[in-house]
Amino acid sequence: MDFSAINIRYGELAGTECCLSCGGALNYAKPKTGEVCVDLGSGRGTDVLRMADEVGDTGFIYGIDISDGMLEKARQNAAKFEIGNVRFLKCELEKIDLQDGIADLVISNCTINHAADKKSVWSEVYRILKKGGRFVVSDIYATSPVPEIYRNDPAAVAECWAGAVTRVEYLKTLQDQGFTGIEIIEESKPYQKGNAEVASLTIAGKKPSGGCCCEK
Ligand SMILES: C[S@@+](CC[C@H](N)C(=O)[O-])C[C@H]1O[C@@H](n2cnc3c(N)ncnc32)[C@H](O)[C@@H]1O
Repeated sequence: MDFSAINIRYGELAGTECCLSCGGALNYAKPKTGEVCVDLGSGRGTDVLRMADEVGDTGFIYGIDISDGMLEKARQNAAKFEIGNVRFLKCELEKIDLQDGIADLVISNCTINHAADKKSVWSEVYRILKKGGRFVVSDIYATSPVPEIYRNDPAAVAECWAGAVTRVEYLKTLQDQGFTGIEIIEESKPYQKGNAEVASLTIAGKKPSGGCCCEK
């Protein structure tokens, strides 16, 4: 995929205070002492640094992002606050540069909508989670399919609306991937963003622990 539009948009936003989130994933995720957590689309690193504090010295947090500007800002913030149990990696959500089964928790805030291949993203989330690991993701869905003309427009995708899929497609992808206990924790009323009507949601689920055939 060509990430130049994302790099331009988020390179410009990296140095601002503008809010980039669309939900409260981290408020529900509750990282625990010693856990390994991953933030997909970590932006300026705000949620990574918060989680680093919550998991303590025995835990570790990885931030994943594709924007050089955002990665630089996130690394500067970690250095400024002398936070050592974090690492920011440049990679695509569809091909996460982390080993299988590394994470207790994956969070993401307003990022997965940007990805061209959502199935690959969720397959990667499943792969990097430990058995029994969980995800809490805030994201955007479209109330009706976004026309192809916008879907293939990188600038519109970078603006957090043209890449949005419908709620039905969103849930189906998670179910097909094999996640269990899928739960919508919060959901907004529909609103207009760019040329699409969208809504925000925060959704959670887990990778089965593999211990019981009737596990929910
Ligand atoms: C709307 S911002 C959200 C940042 C942060 N999660 C927050 O809530 O402040 C989306 C972030 O995802 C990153 N991003 C977008 N598409 C990506 C992709 N395919 N792979 C990795 N990072 C991506 C962008 O560079 C940007 O930093």
